Parts: sequence; C-alpha cells; structure tokens
Amino acid sequence: MKTKSRDTWKTKFGVIMAVAGSAVGLGNFLRFPVQATANGGGAFMIPYFISLFLFGIPLMWIEWTIGRYGGGFGHGTAPGIFHSLWEKNRFIKYFGIIGIFGPLVIFIYYTHIESWTLGYSFFALIGKYVNINSPQGMRDFLAGYQGLVKNQFFSGLGWAYLFFILTFFLNILVVYYGVSRGIEKLSKIAMPLLFLCAILLVLRVLSLGIPNPTKPDWNILNGLGFLWNPDFSSLRSPRVWLAAAGQIFFTLSVGIGVILTYASYLAKSEDVVLSGLTSAVTNEFAEVVLGASIIIPAAFVFFGPMEIKNISQSGAFDLGFVTMPIVLQKIAFSRFFSFLWFFLLFLAGLTSSISLAQPAIAFMEDEFDIPRKKAVGIFSIVTFILCQPVIFLLSRGVVNDLDFWGGTFCLVFFGTVETILFAWVFGMERAWVEMHHGADINIPRIYKIIIKYITPLILFIILISWIFGKDGRDTLFLRNVPEENRIYILGMRLLLLLLLITLGILVKIAWKKRKT
Ligand code: ALA
Repeated sequence: MKTKSRDTWKTKFGVIMAVAGSAVGLGNFLRFPVQATANGGGAFMIPYFISLFLFGIPLMWIEWTIGRYGGGFGHGTAPGIFHSLWEKNRFIKYFGIIGIFGPLVIFIYYTHIESWTLGYSFFALIGKYVNINSPQGMRDFLAGYQGLVKNQFFSGLGWAYLFFILTFFLNILVVYYGVSRGIEKLSKIAMPLLFLCAILLVLRVLSLGIPNPTKPDWNILNGLGFLWNPDFSSLRSPRVWLAAAGQIFFTLSVGIGVILTYASYLAKSEDVVLSGLTSAVTNEFAEVVLGASIIIPAAFVFFGPMEIKNISQSGAFDLGFVTMPIVLQKIAFSRFFSFLWFFLLFLAGLTSSISLAQPAIAFMEDEFDIPRKKAVGIFSIVTFILCQPVIFLLSRGVVNDLDFWGGTFCLVFFGTVETILFAWVFGMERAWVEMHHGADINIPRIYKIIIKYITPLILFIILISWIFGKDGRDTLFLRNVPEENRIYILGMRLLLLLLLITLGILVKIAWKKRKT
C-alpha cells in the first residue's frame, strides 16, 4: 500500500458542493428542458425517474464508494481503482483508461462552449447585442462570434478566442491550486452563487404573467404546462427511454470517471451514502425545478405554442444563445437579467469543467509521482493543443462527434464496466459493507438486488441499443456528416485514438515501474 500523502477535502459541505458542481452544468439548464419538451413533456419524467432510481443513484453510490476505496491505496483514477478492486486481473486496469480519456474528450469541447457563456455575459453587460430583436439577427450574432461568418457584429474569431483563453486559464488556475485550495474553495462560493442566480431568474420568469395582452393564452401557467403536460403515447417509443437514460448519465456526471476521482480524496471513515445522495438530489433540484422553470416557460410567453415547437426542435444552443437573449431583451432590467442568465451558465460550466480536468492530473500525480504543478502544466499543453480543432473546425461538426464518443458512448461503457466489477467481481456482500463504512444512513436493502442485477442489465441494454441502434451506426460510419467534413472528423478521431493508445502505454509503464 502506498503511504504517500494525497490532498484531502477539508469539509463535508465542500466535497458535496464539488460533486454537485460537477453534476450541475449546461445539461441542467439547456439540455434538460429541450429533451423533456421534445420527448413527451411530463411523460418524459417517467423514464427519467426510473433511470434515476435504477441506475443514476446506484452509479453515484458505486463511484463514491470505489473512489474512496481506491484512494486508500493511493489511486485517484480508474486504472488504479479498478486494479485495487480486482488485483488478480492484469487487464482490468486498461479498461480504466476510459475514466481518464472520456473526461479529457469532454473537457476539450466543453471549455469552448463554456467560454461562449463568459463572452455572452460580457456582451450582455456592455449591451453589444442590445439592438437585435429578431431570432435571425441573434443567429447571425452567434455565427459571427463563432467565426462561422464575418458580419457587422464580428470580423473574425478574435472575441471568441479571447474568451476561450480566459476560460481555459481560469480552469487551469483552479486545478493548479489543487483539490482543497482550488476546487473545494471555488465550489463553496460558486455553487451557492449559481443557485442564487437561478432562483432570481426563476422568480423573474414566473412573474412574467401575460406580457402580450392580445394573447391571453400565452401565459406563464400555460408555459409551464407546455413542458409538463404529459403525452403518454411517447412512452411507446424506445427513443424516448434512451433519451431519458442519456440525460441521467450526462446530468449526474456518472460514468464519466470524475466522481470516483473526487471521492478518492475522502478519508476511509467518511460517509459516502448520504453525501452521494445529497449531491444527486441537489442536481435534480437544479434540473427539474430550476432548469425546467426558466428557458421554456419564458420562451412560451413571448413566442407562443406554435413558434416554441420550432424553437425547441432547433436545439439547446439555439434556445440558450438565440431565443433567451431576445426574451430577456423584452423585460425591464434586461441587461442585468441577460447577464444573470449567461453568468449562471458560466458558473454551471466552470464547476463541471474543472472536474473533467482532475482525472488526468490525478493520474500523473498518483501513478508517476509528478508534482501537481508540473502535472497541471503538462495537462494545459496537451488540452490546449487538442482544443484548437474544436475552435477552428466548429463548422465541420467536430463537436458533435466528440460529444458522441466522450459524452455518450464512453459513459455507458464505463458505467457498465464499473457496475459489473463492483457488484460481481468485488462481490455484492463486500460491496455492501464497503458502501456502509462510515455511512450516515442505510441504503434500502432493495438496492442490493438493484445494483447486482437491474443496474448492469439496464446498462447493458442501453449499450447494445446505442452500439447497434441507428443513431450509433450513423455516427460511427459518419452517415449524417456531409462528404466535405468527413476528413476533418476522421482526423479528429485519429487524434483521439492516439490519445487512447498513449494512455494505454502510460498505464503499462506505470505498473512496470511499480513492480520494479
Ligand atoms: N453534468 C454536467 C452537465 O450537466 C456535465 O452539464
């Protein structure tokens, strides 16, 4: 067993805020309302909550537990954690590579999108888009900002690049200070601030009433009803169930590899059951109560039921960066509320992206004894280079492809492996004892059966349907990608493959070194 000292969380509140910070992200305020609206409204909540109880919360507990367990052996990332769960197996550590690779892949596109929210916070304050009143105008503004076209608003990528550098630097600065002095400190301030921004926005939206007196039906109650009225027929479609499962993975940040790394900085005697549950509940409150009460109801009262259907079909980015600024333009103190909206997204993004950076850094520190500052330096150089194609090849569909591999496929694959490893190889009886070590509450016994049989079965079904389903196949074989973009996507995939192989070699070297 290693005796080298590792960083630790200083307070229980801090670690819960950090994990909740990782979970509460752009997914809560942009992705969830669009998914719910497009997949049956209130009826979507049936597969959503089933997913939450049958694999979201179980995975949360599994990751907290195996993270704390591996941390006891000096391992903060999946290769070492998996190895400590199944010491006799020589290969299991290689499966753990996904727990470093996945977060890296998400990090390289997530930080770029996060930087847009910082840019837009600034533009909201200075009133840069204050005169734009039409969706097309806002769309042009966004395209100009992203460097897709040159127009009267932007003559190139300059602004976007500046905000990217600022965002990237801020992320690096936080992880540079480490777990307790960087991540914990930031989360303890940023999370309450995030909730304050969200609650102010919700109150403002709920008090909108009937902004257009000629359209009394376009009121806030009907706006909420637009999202929540159930369409039970949608439950017959497997697509709706898969969408709900995907949302649970993404929003809770489970299956990525980040929660186990955070949990590895816990002491053995610290509770994981109540803390894991609290972080999941905090995320659900931010998603189902706050996330659902901002963007869709606000857009409804200004655009009405017909238009909002088109808007929500055009995706989460359109709703967040095009519709929402226009809506907020129409109310009193619009600059303040627009700023609040984008700043909320920025805080949500930042507390998630620092968690995505941590596994790669922990891997270098734990397995190669590289000092933290040097590890952060190496991480910055590698990710900075990898971010460039995302920024400059945005129009080529690179982000969608990265999101499929990092944000969809890897999560389900990793979640399946860790559940089987924990419940079947480590063994459910030992697992149950390990989970309850130092626990503040007991897990209902039914979860023994759920974690052993139901969670792996569901994950396996999702994995198979994604690999063999139409969406998976289309993405794998680039069927939805225009001919002229394929070369760029393939180039990016090659880079990812190189990254994966490099990680594999590093794991091999680390274990060889350990033996000698
Ligand atoms: N869980 C994070 C989000 O919802 C990644 O955005």
